Amino acid sequence: MIRKYRIGNPIPTDAVVEEIIALEGEPPFFDCDSEGKKLSLKLEKKERVYGLGETVRGINKRGWCYISNNSDDPYHLEEKRSLYASQNFLLFDSDKRKLGVFVDTPGIVTFDIGYTDIDEMTISFEDFDADIYIIEGDSLLDIVKQFRQMIGRSYIPPRWAFGFGQSRWSYLTADEVRSVADGYDRAGIPLDMIYLDIDYMEKYKDFTVDEKAFPNFPEFVKEMKERGIRLVPIIDAGVKIEEGYDIYEEGVKNDYFCKKENGENLVAAVWPGKVHFPDFLNEKAREWFGSKYKILLDQGIEGFWNDMNEPAIFYTEDHLNEVFEQIEDYKGKNLDIRLFFAFKELVGSIDNNEADYRRFYHEYKGRRIRHDKVHNIFGYNMTRAAGEAFEKLTDKRVLMFSRSSYAGMHRYGGVWCGDNRSWWSHLLLNIQQMPALSMCGLLYSGADIGGFSADTTEDLVMRWTEFGIFTPLFRNHSAEKTRNQELYRFKNTEDFKNIVELRYALLPYLYSEFMKAALNFEMLFKPLSFEYEDERCAEIEDQLLLGESLMLAPIYRQNATGRNVYLPEDMKLIRFRSYKDYDEEILPAGDHYVRAELNEIPVFVRRGGVLPIATPKKRSTEVDEKDLKFICYEAQPGDYDLYTDDGVTRI
Ligand code: GLC
Repeated sequence: MIRKYRIGNPIPTDAVVEEIIALEGEPPFFDCDSEGKKLSLKLEKKERVYGLGETVRGINKRGWCYISNNSDDPYHLEEKRSLYASQNFLLFDSDKRKLGVFVDTPGIVTFDIGYTDIDEMTISFEDFDADIYIIEGDSLLDIVKQFRQMIGRSYIPPRWAFGFGQSRWSYLTADEVRSVADGYDRAGIPLDMIYLDIDYMEKYKDFTVDEKAFPNFPEFVKEMKERGIRLVPIIDAGVKIEEGYDIYEEGVKNDYFCKKENGENLVAAVWPGKVHFPDFLNEKAREWFGSKYKILLDQGIEGFWNDMNEPAIFYTEDHLNEVFEQIEDYKGKNLDIRLFFAFKELVGSIDNNEADYRRFYHEYKGRRIRHDKVHNIFGYNMTRAAGEAFEKLTDKRVLMFSRSSYAGMHRYGGVWCGDNRSWWSHLLLNIQQMPALSMCGLLYSGADIGGFSADTTEDLVMRWTEFGIFTPLFRNHSAEKTRNQELYRFKNTEDFKNIVELRYALLPYLYSEFMKAALNFEMLFKPLSFEYEDERCAEIEDQLLLGESLMLAPIYRQNATGRNVYLPEDMKLIRFRSYKDYDEEILPAGDHYVRAELNEIPVFVRRGGVLPIATPKKRSTEVDEKDLKFICYEAQPGDYDLYTDDGVTRI
């Protein structure tokens, strides 16, 4: 049962697709304090709180304060309150109640979940305007399903996007891309995609290609596709200001860019230096920007990743000028502790400055709205621009995922979890983010495997790849100037080959479970507590259910050759060294120390579970879904409902 309550006069987000009439009065369960602009809820002693999509910390969100305020911040430390996404959906789980709450507002919201008062949750707003949806149901899974039906079906990528992708900021030339493909082919490691980061463009201009570095681009795309490898270029939110650049000129001519209060186009800066931001909230501008993806589709491209769409801002022209003026005051002064800190703050807070988000406006649904009021739906609408255009441009599925997101964007694309670091703790974070993303319908998602920033190590890449083979978006990506981390560069190439091959062997299962989750509004990754009521499961933060047959217990600690695993019921342990080399053991319910050397992947088949295994191939499209072996635990192969389709036609 879903009930909707309206507080104030919220700006619509288009997150909800079902027509639900708001009820009179205040939302039940919560104390509503309109003066303090907050809703509060007493938490039961052992109540667990799940959700919020891509955030820091664990699966149970209790004990911290999270702020929905899409931010470009590459240090995903425990103390952070905001990452790139805002998914204002929460689940409350205790003996007394099971409750879903969706707070629908495009503005900034703070979720204090037992932080200020350990037994209380408060949701506070800058403007007390929001639609609050209260969802009750028989179980957590039932509540999630109702929520997901309400926000519409998840984006479905082409099947080849379930292959492995290699990325790097940046492969600078066509030859460098070829050498990456050669590296993989020589090592015999399967590969389906190579990602093109910002340097494929001419001077970082969206929808252009640097002719010197990538001569005859359509030919190159074709050559790679003939090898079975798709190129996936990045698209950034800012449009370079440059006379003669058609996209800039069209945008200016048609008033498609975000404007300042005085009506001039906002001048901000990102990779190319000065840019304008398309007003993705303006339907016409959205349609226009979306139509530009055709430029690359026509050159044979079939997938994209949308970036810097919080939006990330290096500086705005106006703010930079103010800083230059203020710097003058510091010249010749003795910078003591206070003055020095003030000086550092002045210069150090230029990028992604909150005040800059109050300097520009959108034309949204017939109203002029200041950016900060709709900040969290900017990236969503960039991806929507692409998704809506693809529907008109092609009847094939197009790969699309974004950095920034809000509920509703899941209908147009997936996400990657932004600029993580090559830290073991970020592998654990990746594990913990997956079920929260599933709850919000962001099914096609994953993190930068091996870690984006900082130098990685071979064992971290290996353990992370061992988890990554289960995430729909399976991509190794790293930042410029960090250690190269393509899998074939490491010593134990054979192990990497076996691990990635296992992904390809599991493709029929993974694709099938993904499609069922998408079509039936279900979760792909689940915390154990969503299916097992026992007390221990409620505290498990590092084991996940994946689809109907599997439980995962990834290893995320350096130098570990095993880990503790709790089994709520008997399960069959498969210790994979490769798709055909594994041991099987039935383990009784309870606690176990499960051994797994660096090249071994422990996977658990649940009672009644069936795991189809295909013969891996170099490319996902070559994997034969009919030629399968099965690992079963108290089940028959025929008990498994395998979903298949042509993998490319839009459904
Ligand atoms: C951003 C993206 C990252 C990309 C880089 C350069 O930091 O999050 O994935 O590599 O920009 O485009």
